[in-house]
Amino acid sequence: MCGIVGYIGPKSVVPVLLDGLKKLEYRGYDSAGIAVIEKNKIIVQKSVGKIARLEEKTEAYTPEGNIGVGHTRWATHGRPSDVNSHPHTDCSGKFAVVHNGIIENYLELKEWLESEGHEFLSETDTEILPHLVEHFYRGNLEEAVREVIKKLDGSYAMVVLAKKEPDRLVAARKDSPLVVGLGRGEYFLASDIPATLSHTRDNYILNDGEIAILTRNGVRVTDSEGNEIKKEVFHVKWDAVAAEKGGYPHFMLKEIYEQPKAIRETLTGRISADSSQVILNEMIMTPEEIRSLRNIFIVACGTAYHAGMVGKYLIEDLARIPVEVDIASEFRYRKPIINKGDLVIVISQSGETADTLAALREAQKAGAKVLAVTNVVGSSVSREADEVIYTWAGPEIAVASTKAYSTQLVVMMLLAIYFAQVRATIDSEHAGQLLKEMKELPEKAQAILEDLEDLESFLKKYAEAQNTFFLGRGLDYAVAMEGCLKLKEISYMHAEAYAAGELKHGTLALIVDGVPVVALATQMDLYDKMVSNIKEVKARDAQVIGVTFRGNNELKKVVDHVVYIPQTDRSLAPVLTVIPLQLLAYHIAVARGCDVDKPRNLAKSVTVE
Ligand code: M6R
Repeated sequence: MCGIVGYIGPKSVVPVLLDGLKKLEYRGYDSAGIAVIEKNKIIVQKSVGKIARLEEKTEAYTPEGNIGVGHTRWATHGRPSDVNSHPHTDCSGKFAVVHNGIIENYLELKEWLESEGHEFLSETDTEILPHLVEHFYRGNLEEAVREVIKKLDGSYAMVVLAKKEPDRLVAARKDSPLVVGLGRGEYFLASDIPATLSHTRDNYILNDGEIAILTRNGVRVTDSEGNEIKKEVFHVKWDAVAAEKGGYPHFMLKEIYEQPKAIRETLTGRISADSSQVILNEMIMTPEEIRSLRNIFIVACGTAYHAGMVGKYLIEDLARIPVEVDIASEFRYRKPIINKGDLVIVISQSGETADTLAALREAQKAGAKVLAVTNVVGSSVSREADEVIYTWAGPEIAVASTKAYSTQLVVMMLLAIYFAQVRATIDSEHAGQLLKEMKELPEKAQAILEDLEDLESFLKKYAEAQNTFFLGRGLDYAVAMEGCLKLKEISYMHAEAYAAGELKHGTLALIVDGVPVVALATQMDLYDKMVSNIKEVKARDAQVIGVTFRGNNELKKVVDHVVYIPQTDRSLAPVLTVIPLQLLAYHIAVARGCDVDKPRNLAKSVTVE
């Protein structure tokens, strides 16, 4: 998982590459580098650390040129170091390559290249690529790249620069994303659209097996045999500032505050004006197929998996279809019993998560229909699934997923009600009530954000804690898991989520004086039982923060602090309950001095296994 950029055009290339890399830093940030053709020579500058370190190098010496490539890395093969950073070059410095993905047969290829006299400097799989280009180059870079990719097993998005061809960039992709930005007399390559958005809104989204040849006069896309492919231009509607911080200190906070808008957009057009029907035009399953559904699997990773847990509770509760929720990396290897006609729902913000994509393919192989819930149009998951429902959250940059999660919950709710209506397991009054309340969620989310502005100082006092526990029952348990993940990934504080009734089977031993416990109490059918569990931890002197609906004046009698959220149906509560938990994690991480948007060891999109 890495971010790559490329540029050819009239501008001085270094600022264009650095700007693009900064937009892609969410894909990895343990080292960065650029390669530029300057006066018939390829100049490579690279550095371990974030892009700011590379910038210092380019300030000390700025290569002059108007064609180049850049890379921001998340280490897979070889630890983060200057020498392992991209771009990598061949023996004689005639070619430079940036790469995102994993070349699985690189050891075999490396041995062969070494026997041919090539010398390697790094521990990376990528370094074989410039050497392979060197091996196959006969005066035509495009042909050499075509030969190279025939040799490769694994995944790649790569861009190649050749000293002898200063007017051409050649790029290829398989299982790693790559887009071509189409400017006026200038052309761009990037792993993701935000990197090119300040220059152009028109893009080609490359598919697996395609090769793009960028010259100063235009872009040609071919298949692996060299046959030209007519690409459709993908016009991006969101503007560049949507991908910037917009005045917030961190992308994560900005994205938390964008949730009312993201929820509204995800709902737009999906509930009838009279709130009686879910409208899912994307759904290609026929009512008959939905009625005869025997099993649903929901497969995802991390936060998306937690959204899947909520989906399970809702679909089983409302539509009465058995649902299994699986972590994608388990699903793909555990030989699940999938029957023809089963539905597999994959959830992925990025649509590029390698394990989720592999699970999708396994499910299709087994004859299931795959429905993707994703945030990224044109992503691999969206292209390979049988049908797609988009979460219209807009670009999510912070590594910690927030608005993608709440919009995934919205889609899960819509799906559960849709299935329930088709299967007649919900009466029209109940469906109408839920749909009406769903339309109110954006305002209610907004109200929480406005109310909670004074939460910062109150939450910061927990920043010193070593361990935190999140408790809930039913849907609250699913949300507790997400709150717990948020805290762990950005504040590095140990946290565990428990189904509240399970605590006494072991973990209660860890509850001692002063341990913070976040207790979610929005599932009113389970409320009394939840209060008993809260009393169990209070009896061990835990510091309890309760989350419940406004109007509940009882909870404050048994906890230390209460955070109130607006009243809503218990099935819809997760969308609101998670907001204070996101803010809790955010403020604790800030108080602990953590790099909120780029937590250590993580990357936004995990495109490797
Ligand atoms: O892009 P995806 O939704 O497939 O990503 C899945 C996880 O990697 C992601 O949700 C991860 O857990 C986040 N960092 C959580 O905040």
